[in-house]
Amino acid sequence: MLKNLLCLASLLSLVPATPLGQRPVALPASVKAPAEELGWADPRALGGQFIDFTTPRYGEPLNVIISNQSDPFVLTDAGFRLYYKSIGFSEECLGLHYGHVHKADLGDGDGKKSEHILARQHYFPRWGTCWESLIGGNHFRAWKQNGTLANTGAWFLAVSKEKDSTKNHMIVPDGYNIGRDMLVENAITGSYWGNIWWRADVEWREGLLEPGYRGINHAIAQDGRIAILTIHRL
Ligand SMILES: *[C@@H]1O[C@H](CO)[C@@H](O)[C@H](O)[C@H]1NC(C)=O
Ligand SMILES: *[C@@H]1O[C@H](CO)[C@@H](O)[C@H](O)[C@H]1NC(C)=O
Repeated sequence: MLKNLLCLASLLSLVPATPLGQRPVALPASVKAPAEELGWADPRALGGQFIDFTTPRYGEPLNVIISNQSDPFVLTDAGFRLYYKSIGFSEECLGLHYGHVHKADLGDGDGKKSEHILARQHYFPRWGTCWESLIGGNHFRAWKQNGTLANTGAWFLAVSKEKDSTKNHMIVPDGYNIGRDMLVENAITGSYWGNIWWRADVEWREGLLEPGYRGINHAIAQDGRIAILTIHRL
């Protein structure tokens, strides 16, 4: 943010263009987005992809990224847990793990690694996740980009809305887009848990993930949009 402001300010000649000792660089009026992403690394650069491995051939889209520009607490396990509780998710009922573990390759040198977190939306705090597991709902798996080749600390999430548990955790039609949009809506609206208040900025990205159902589990099409969230502690 500060960097962006300084950059903008220097473009407008409000501050010296560069620190001492560096040659000023002439920038065109329309500055192109840098290839390097701010706050996360593109998994594809090192052989990864924006689809997890539910099976060797098919997977679910990694449709939300929590950038490392977020509050540092959110990037820790404990902080992330508090955060996702604030937007209505928590771990599996009684620690039971339904469905099998998905893997993802975030291009961080770890190759395909198992999900670090599986959390489900609980609509009624009184009943919690157990209730959700019966009626179905929104859930996500998350992986941390912390391999030695791209140790950004960003979280990559595969979010989707599924049918109730009698349907064996099937994803509802359009469930990848719906699940992602529900999570993003809660994040940008703002939330709190345990006296900590949060609000996220979102940047929507296209062109990272091919729209459609190729390679997608259950052949449920998704729109290819990825939400990059930067979560601020208020
Ligand atoms: C955040 O991610 C960028 C990649 O966009 C990386 O260069 C930087 O080191 C990361 N910051 C931290 C604190 O890990
Ligand atoms: C990477 O992050 C996950 C989730 O926080 C953690 O369980 C794992 O130990 C981390 N790996 C390393 C090498 O730090």
